Order: sequence, then structure tokens, then C-alpha cells
Amino acid sequence: MSNWVEFYDFKHSVIYVNARHRDVHYRTIAQDIRGYVPASTAQVLDYGCGEATSADLVAAACGRLVLAEAAPNVRASLSMRYAGNPKIAVVSADQAMAMPKASFDLIVMHSVAQYLGEAELDRMLAAFRTLLKPNGLFVIGDIVPPHFAAPAAALALLHFGAANGFFWAAVSGLMRIFVSDYLRLKRTVGLSHYTEEAMLERLKRAGFAAERASRNIGHNQHRMTFLARVA
Ligand SMILES: C[S@@+](CC[C@H](N)C(=O)[O-])C[C@H]1O[C@@H](n2cnc3c(N)ncnc32)[C@H](O)[C@@H]1O
Repeated sequence: MSNWVEFYDFKHSVIYVNARHRDVHYRTIAQDIRGYVPASTAQVLDYGCGEATSADLVAAACGRLVLAEAAPNVRASLSMRYAGNPKIAVVSADQAMAMPKASFDLIVMHSVAQYLGEAELDRMLAAFRTLLKPNGLFVIGDIVPPHFAAPAAALALLHFGAANGFFWAAVSGLMRIFVSDYLRLKRTVGLSHYTEEAMLERLKRAGFAAERASRNIGHNQHRMTFLARVA
């Protein structure tokens, strides 16, 4: 395993401590993303959607939902899960980027930026700006700040587990992460961190007018979500 897409292409990623965690995680995210859907006709892109087990909640609130995922096995399982939902299309990351200009009212990229190098993130921001309709909204979530990221993530997971009936699974899941490829990849490939100012500056340079949202999408409020519109 040599990169983050391969890490996430495992059927049961160690990131989710059990099936309950995975499902509560994706339900929480889907509910939060749903809150950003501007209209029932909206065209929505969820880029780097992962297993997205509650994407039907988002699809129910919009006109069309495109789920873009780079990991081929995850994509195959998404295609099977949503084969019966005419509002949901599953595409590769490259296919999403090749879509026509001004295709989307809402683009969400949640918990992906930390796995991208700075130049790769900049290329994606430029592409999203083109894919967005002139008054569309780009939401970039789960941006990891430089300090206390690991202890904050561990604590947030334990709280999330305690609130949702998987506390002890969260404890053993954290121990499993310590012996998994996650830490090895973190050392060799790296993870990207941004302060609030650095992310606002990056979005501005990419041609967006952006602000930090009052809360992050999902359960970890140490991380940040930004709301960006074409400037
Ligand atoms: C933590 S998961 C996020 C899934 C979902 N958005 C969520 O918030 O739970 C990270 C995602 O980033 C994607 N990813 C990692 N590196 C990537 C890259 N270089 N290009 C595109 N996607 C990438 C992985 O395939 C995976 O789906």
C-alpha cells in the first residue's frame, strides 16, 4: 500500500471501528451536507465521498447527486448500493473533474484535503471553481489544523462512540490504528494541515470568496469547514 487512495480502498477500512461507527459517521455527514443543499432541484457533487452509506438522504433533498470516488473497490460498492436510485450517479474522481463547466450548485469535499499535497489541492480548487455554477457553493470540510490533531481526533472519536453506542469498539479501534498502515503512510506520504488563515488564503488565491463555517461537518469540531463562492 503506497498511497491514501489505496488505504481507503480496503473493504473494511480501519478508520471505521465497526459497521455501526461507519454508518453513524456517514449519516451524520449526510445530514450536515443536506443542510447545505440550496434547492430541491440542486445539482450536487460529493467529491471523495468514501462509502457514503447515507447518500440517499442527500439525494432526497436535491435534484441529482454525483458521488465521486477515486478508490475503485469503494466505487464498485457505491454503484451496487445506489443502482436503484435514479438521482444518484457514481463516477471516478477523474470523470468528475472532466464534467462540463458550471455543472453544480453545490460541491462538497469533506475529509479529503488532508490526503492531498498542496499543489494537488490547488489543482482541485481550480477545477471545482470551473465546475461550480456562478452562484454555487463549494464546501470544503474536515480541514485539519496543525496542532493537537491526533489527540483531538482520538477524543472526538471516543465522544462520538460514547454518544452512539460504540465506545469500547472505539477504544480498540484506536489501538488498531496504531498498528495499521495509517501511521506508516502518515510518516511516508504525509498528511496536510492548514490553519484557518492558510486555508482562507488558498481559497482566495483559487478565486473564491470564503469564510469559515460556524461548525465543522461531522463529529470532530477541532477541524474546520469553509464555505466558498466564486469571487
Ligand atoms: C476519510 S475518507 C473521506 C470520505 C468521506 N468524504 C467522509 O467524509 O467520510 C478520504 C477520502 O479521500 C479520498 N482520497 C484520498 N486521496 C485522494 C486523492 N489523491 N484524490 C482523490 N481522492 C482522494 C479517498 O479515496 C477517500 O474516499
